[in-house]
Amino acid sequence: MKPLQHIPLLQILFLAQVYSVVSPQKAPRIITLVETVDALLDHNATFICEVDSNPPADISWTRNNEPIYYYDSRYITKANGQMLIIPNVREADSGEYCCIANNWVGQPAKSCGALQLKMKPQIKRHPSNITLLLDSKAVLPCVTLGYPKPDITWIKDEHMIKLSDRVSILDYGALKIHNLRKEDAGQYRCVARNSFGIAFSRPVTIEVQAPAKILRVPHGKKVPFGTKVSLECNATGNPIPTITWLEDGNTISGASVEETLVGDVTLSVLHVEVKKPALYTCLATNHHSGGANTVKATAHVTVSGTYIQSGPV
Ligand SMILES: *[C@@H]1O[C@H](CO)[C@@H](O)[C@H](O)[C@H]1NC(C)=O
Ligand SMILES: *[C@@H]1O[C@H](CO)[C@@H](O)[C@H](O)[C@H]1NC(C)=O
Ligand SMILES: *[C@@H]1O[C@H](CO)[C@@H](O)[C@H](O)[C@H]1NC(C)=O
Repeated sequence: MKPLQHIPLLQILFLAQVYSVVSPQKAPRIITLVETVDALLDHNATFICEVDSNPPADISWTRNNEPIYYYDSRYITKANGQMLIIPNVREADSGEYCCIANNWVGQPAKSCGALQLKMKPQIKRHPSNITLLLDSKAVLPCVTLGYPKPDITWIKDEHMIKLSDRVSILDYGALKIHNLRKEDAGQYRCVARNSFGIAFSRPVTIEVQAPAKILRVPHGKKVPFGTKVSLECNATGNPIPTITWLEDGNTISGASVEETLVGDVTLSVLHVEVKKPALYTCLATNHHSGGANTVKATAHVTVSGTYIQSGPV
């Protein structure tokens, strides 16, 4: 007699005993309730619903009250349906999962739990460096991933940004600044935070450009023939403007120009010996993201006393 032949018989006997002798028929009872599962994206989530029942219950599952069919390849069931495995959890898997045990003796039993996705924040789209003109509008994007949905804040030069009528954070995390000011220039990064962690975007700079502007205009003078005069002109802007001088609309020869840079102001001083009345023009030019920009200021220099028009002899 081979021992193997006896095994099925033993099993049948054992099962018969369990069902008919040891335990009488009874409605299913869930002894391990379905619990809420926090699942990391791309990890497996497992729901357990341990059932005590005689005869054994049929165990089925639902997601958001829709039945999960046994042939649905999205799910794996084990232990006669007492275990539901969702491999490689995705965003769309979150929801309420219930197990229902029915053996047609009394009422079916039901237990539910939620699948909550948990995911540390990630920056999906970083902001990038921008160069804009004064008074324009800046928008720095910050697209994030994470569950729960991360809260977005922004920091500028390592300080938390103060929100105002002019500076706001849009629903999708972008930073919007209206009417850019000089002091908005700096380094920015967005910060995404949820209960599982924190993520920082790359730091990006906002450069605020300003068209050239003349602050100090040269003043007209009336001086004796041969006098050396100095005309001053200063200008600011971003990029810092260059200053050039014209005499009656032409480039000047035989004059010297002294230029100094103080902060973001270029000061230019034209030294010229007055031999005839002339119109001097200070031109300040810079090239910014909006194009080139030239502004000018003029001064008349006249000769006092007797003045003899020089000309061909
Ligand atoms: C997730 O489930 C799949 C399929 O059952 C299995 O191959 C894999 O090893 C599981 N991964 C983890 C991290 O448990
Ligand atoms: C942004 O600007 C900073 C300096 O202002 C520079 O170091 C960095 O490389 C720039 N980033 C990109 C993506 O161009
Ligand atoms: C430029 O001109 C303005 C107006 O005259 C003056 O207040 C300022 O001090 C000047 N700056 C320089 C660097 O010359």
